[in-house]
Amino acid sequence: MGEHETLVILDYGSQYTQLIGRRVRELGVFSVILPFNKPLADIKKLKPKGLVLSGGPNSVYEKGAPSLDKKLLELGVPVLGICYGLQLFALNLGGQVAPSKQREYGLAKLKLSGKSTLLPAKVDGSRIWMSHGDHVAIPPTGFSVTAKSGDIICAAENAKRQLFGIQFHPEVSHTEHGRDILESFLKTCGFRFDWSSKSFIEETTANIKQLVGDANVVCALSGGVDSSVAATLVNQAIGDRQTCIFVETGLLRRGEFEEVLAIYKNVGLNVKAVDASKQFLTALKGVEDPEAKRKIIGREFIKVFETEAAKIKGVKFLVQGTLYPDVIESVSVHGPSVTIKSHHNVGGLPEKMHLKLLEPLRDLFKDEVRIIGKELGLPDVITGRQPFPGPGLAVRIIGEVTPQALELLRQADAIVREEVISGGAHKHLWQYFAVLLPIKSVGVMGDGRTYEQVIAIRAVESSDGMTADWAKLPHELLEKISSRIVSEVRGINRVVYDITSKPPGTIEWE
Ligand code: XMP
Repeated sequence: MGEHETLVILDYGSQYTQLIGRRVRELGVFSVILPFNKPLADIKKLKPKGLVLSGGPNSVYEKGAPSLDKKLLELGVPVLGICYGLQLFALNLGGQVAPSKQREYGLAKLKLSGKSTLLPAKVDGSRIWMSHGDHVAIPPTGFSVTAKSGDIICAAENAKRQLFGIQFHPEVSHTEHGRDILESFLKTCGFRFDWSSKSFIEETTANIKQLVGDANVVCALSGGVDSSVAATLVNQAIGDRQTCIFVETGLLRRGEFEEVLAIYKNVGLNVKAVDASKQFLTALKGVEDPEAKRKIIGREFIKVFETEAAKIKGVKFLVQGTLYPDVIESVSVHGPSVTIKSHHNVGGLPEKMHLKLLEPLRDLFKDEVRIIGKELGLPDVITGRQPFPGPGLAVRIIGEVTPQALELLRQADAIVREEVISGGAHKHLWQYFAVLLPIKSVGVMGDGRTYEQVIAIRAVESSDGMTADWAKLPHELLEKISSRIVSEVRGINRVVYDITSKPPGTIEWE
């Protein structure tokens, strides 16, 4: 959305591509990440002031390796090739790429070897992070080698054509002066460095006003950060012409519906609250299969939403809090090869209801959305909220979802949340919650034998939910959570801790 100065980052499949976008935004420049094979015409439409070619896992000589449209080098804007991006320059402009004797992965030292427009003098002798199997053996004509690490060419440029290439990753924090190098490139492009959360809000609200005209819009609020921030932005643009529908599915955490509803009203959102918990629980009766549960919840949600939306006249748009990672989870560099769980409970709505989508956050990451939310005046309880899946507690009860199971899980989950927050551990965590297992185990309490259910605790660190590490929570914290759950939740006599990362596990259990 919008008329800002734009940097286009072409994604060649590196695990760090999103980080480039993040760093660039931190420097105050707006960027868009596109797949490497995006047609030239589409790229031109964005009027980029600069172009970055990301790294990637392939070798440029491999059959079917992602290629470069040479016309991109003739757009008249500076281009920075990172790792694979540099090798593409070499391949396309008459240089040569060779496989390294061994895959270089990790830290190296950078040595300046010539005058450079891109590299500031202070990078001489600094730490850089490498991750590659190939390197440029002979730079293309017109390029000068500006830095090396041992014998390996680490940077080459053709300052006249404004083409710059580096073999290492400036976007990762292990590269000592990575930020300076990116800043230097952005200065060469002539950026104004004026992108901020404030300017994002101004631009986006102006765009929404223009796009929506005098139509009405609906929004499905979930209580989560994404939909709350999206709705608040739209509210800023068109006020009460947006109706937000907040559904009590009966699958929310303890106290969540009332608490969040009060906040929404306080922020000034036009919210229609609907209690459909009976409908959801009836539909889920006897169902154990995870995908079946998700589908049923999605279907019931659509029913409720459609019924409510039908009561509003002149609705043309549906607001969704889609974020950048949601977009790229469904786009792959090599085509549609990734399959994900049937995510998001409003997926089928736009086509069915003939609504156009309004997704004001689709270029942003979660932490940026949190900053925007704060700027918009949303309280910490919303902006700092951990992600919560659309199907709610239903995917955290393994097996059938019953009112009894929900009650047990709610109690245990509230204890996990309370203790994690009071210990301050939540600041480093992406998510922390309880899962109710459908098995019983034997225990002893007082003088008696118990035979009750098991709670698993899940706590993970992650930057975007696409990969995650299990959190190394302090033993004392785990001990406190465990003893509180076993003594306070009647029906639970054992607590286990999930030590699986993603991949190979997923964050949610279902
Ligand atoms: P997984 O379990 O796939 O989850 O590792 C990744 C992230 O997505 C959240 N999640 C969902 N969010 N609707 C949502 O809006 C869903 O159906 C859904 N399933 C998982 C999950 O909580 C984690 O943050």
